[in-house]
Amino acid sequence: TGKFTYDPGFMSTASCNSKITFIDGDKGELLYRGYPIEDLAVNCDFLETCYLLLNGELPSPEVKKDFADLVMHHTMVHEQMQFFLRGFRRDAHPMAVLTGLVGAMAAFYHDGLDYSDARIREIAQIRLIAKMPTLVAMSYKYSVGQPFIYPKNDLSYTANFMRMLFATPCEEYVVNEVLVRALDRIFILHADHEQNASTSTVRLAGSSGTNPFAAIAAGVACLWGPAHGGANEACLQMLEDIQKNGGVEKIGEFIAKVKDKDSGVRLMGFGHRVYKNFDPRAKLMRETCYEVLNELGLGDDPLFKLAMTLEKIALEDEYFVSRKLYPNVDFYSGIVQRALGIPTDMFTCVFALARTVGWIAQWEEMITDAEYKIGRPRQLFNGYTTRSVK
Ligand code: CMC
Repeated sequence: TGKFTYDPGFMSTASCNSKITFIDGDKGELLYRGYPIEDLAVNCDFLETCYLLLNGELPSPEVKKDFADLVMHHTMVHEQMQFFLRGFRRDAHPMAVLTGLVGAMAAFYHDGLDYSDARIREIAQIRLIAKMPTLVAMSYKYSVGQPFIYPKNDLSYTANFMRMLFATPCEEYVVNEVLVRALDRIFILHADHEQNASTSTVRLAGSSGTNPFAAIAAGVACLWGPAHGGANEACLQMLEDIQKNGGVEKIGEFIAKVKDKDSGVRLMGFGHRVYKNFDPRAKLMRETCYEVLNELGLGDDPLFKLAMTLEKIALEDEYFVSRKLYPNVDFYSGIVQRALGIPTDMFTCVFALARTVGWIAQWEEMITDAEYKIGRPRQLFNGYTTRSVK
């Protein structure tokens, strides 16, 4: 038993070599392929960021256009997916539905696929990025009982997604570029985050050589948890609960509950395994929050004010300071999504849509690594050793 290093939660284990995303948790630094997230969020759009994550370099304007055309050409999903989707209860959680839908895509893209062939890998990558918005929008439309809206490929990636979510056949959908840009920024900020739980899940699942759609479905399942991607939903629910129970006045009471370990209550949207000084994504997301609320004339949004006050109080509280707990990206992303009209239980689906490129880039990096092996952790066995029934 003493042969293996015990590292629960992989606090000090590097599971792979990677060139994709760099995080310095102490400095609050996040780089995709060497570019700071602050630079990408301001100067690039999501599809350029996808190209960068997949290929290691930013595209030239011509390459960018070809890449966008290629992705947008593949936005439709097989018509059969509708019938599969209709098998779910209408009140099923959209993340349960999305896990199933992404896994089901393996049924359409499998036979004869040889993932040692770069062209075959690219087919899976492009299709995943292209079809994810369609699947997310379909699960939303199904849950509200509205007809599915087919993709419109002459729109931008993000505008097309918003249209598939919000348009109905009854009226013309008008694209608001400020809101599109805000959602595009959410996508950029969530696109990759090195070896987090869902990415590690995708790598582990993919390490057996399984179909990439199946491996990404495993990532979606992992992302759902409230300690990971589900935090944006949990955070907004927390803010709404405080608001319902007295608002700003009740923050002190809520913080006391968080500090009481027996309560089991955490301040959602706070803390991060790696960022111990600040989360650079949270700063950008707060900015986006201002922009969206102003655009929509919601500058006095009580939930946003509550979040800012809660943040300020927590940042001055010894409990949070001593544990190096700072707001993470999800502290503000829920408010932005709610303002855009995205329902709370869809937030994690939006995260999954954005993270798909990171998952699939990491999957590609893994299976093309010369040192690639099936992931197979060991254990420190502490159960019974040999014993006998009689
Ligand atoms: N509220 C209150 N206490 C906290 C929180 C929190 N949000 N986060 C950590 N702590 C305390 C924890 O109780 C522990 O205290 P003590 O040392 O007294 O036992 C200490 O801080 C260290 O916590 P930990 O759980 O060992 O830290 P971790 O690195 O394992 O957990 C985390 C990281 C993100 C799971 C955790 O901070 C958390 O649960 N945060 C709330 C959920 C959340 O916002 N998650 C989104 C993460 S960012 C989006 C993403 O990448 O998915």
